[in-house]
Amino acid sequence: MCSQKAIRHHSFGKPEEVLKLEEISVPEPQAGEVRVRLLAATINPSDYGMVGGSYGRLRELPAIAGREGVGVVDVLGEGVSGLAVGDFVRFPGEAGAWCEYACAPVGDLLAVPSDVPVEQAAVSFINPPTAYCLLREVVDLAPGSWVVQNAGNSAVGLSVIQMARAMGLKTISQVRREALIEPLKAMGADHVVLEGSDWAKTANELTGGEPIRLALNSIGGASATDQIKVLGDSGTQVTFGGMVGDLVRFPTRFLIFNDVRMVGFWWDQWSRRHGVECVREVMNAVYAMMLSGDLKLPIEETYAFQNFQAALAHDKQPRLGKILLRP
Ligand SMILES: NC(=O)c1ccc[n+]([C@@H]2O[C@H](COP(=O)([O-])OP(=O)(O)OC[C@H]3O[C@@H](n4cnc5c(N)ncnc54)[C@H](OP(=O)(O)O)[C@@H]3O)[C@@H](O)[C@H]2O)c1
Repeated sequence: MCSQKAIRHHSFGKPEEVLKLEEISVPEPQAGEVRVRLLAATINPSDYGMVGGSYGRLRELPAIAGREGVGVVDVLGEGVSGLAVGDFVRFPGEAGAWCEYACAPVGDLLAVPSDVPVEQAAVSFINPPTAYCLLREVVDLAPGSWVVQNAGNSAVGLSVIQMARAMGLKTISQVRREALIEPLKAMGADHVVLEGSDWAKTANELTGGEPIRLALNSIGGASATDQIKVLGDSGTQVTFGGMVGDLVRFPTRFLIFNDVRMVGFWWDQWSRRHGVECVREVMNAVYAMMLSGDLKLPIEETYAFQNFQAALAHDKQPRLGKILLRP
């Protein structure tokens, strides 16, 4: 075996214009390394930013796209212990996850319990741990505390809804389509409200007069401002995404009279700062919830690599669940 398929770009730009399915060589593991074969990879909003040249740390060109996927250990390099051929691991996605094979030092690989279904494992590495940290790491939330979030139907949003329920927290989720209200309630959402409606005026009724302690913002613009207006005194808004690309504005009087706080969160930076053992702890909590049935993320559809253009087009349509790519 000497070549593999990879979805790559030679310049930064719109994914549908710059991404191509190409043949590249299959890497051989060096001493202390493991080769991993991809089982399934996820399409995330950050992939568009990486391919477009606007997200975090960019890769050198030509670059393989994608950041998240699950694989199986395929070959062990010399002197490797701790993993065996056939073990499930996070696909080493530093240099891109939308390809068939990649190598990494054995110590860098995150093992996945073999009883986690492949599709759930594929979507487990970015959005669920982000949701977990948003609920656990930003402010201390006593059981029964209220949390508001926008993009309630996103993978982070659905993780927040299910994890909050398991942790005894209560959620108000903002969405853009009425058809999402019942499915999100069925997953454990306490309240689901429509973006742009006058819901904020009745927020007090929704919580029975309890203050909202935490607001999770991945949209920006007017949606972020709406949240600040319903936060309780000394509440915190954490911004971790900017789907509309608009500024997050902070109304001065809420800052002064309500002592509202505003912070940011980035899972990549949290992982680098806290180190591999803390990441494993968070991932163990995620897998425990997946295995107990407390957390299950819907999958909208899976596409073969050759049909990646159709997958990207589908990803832009209204959906409830992730689009996966398989070699
Ligand atoms: N900082 C971090 O560490 C971190 C980690 C993970 C994710 N994120 C961010 O979290 C956000 C959600 O990621 P995800 O993978 O969970 O998303 P996803 O499952 O792909 O869902 C995308 C969400 O964004 C909403 N959306 C898209 N365009 C919008 C617009 N113009 N206005 C309002 N809503 C819009 C969609 O709503 P509709 O269905 O109504 O279109 C949907 O709820 C992204 O911004 C992502 O970059 C950040």
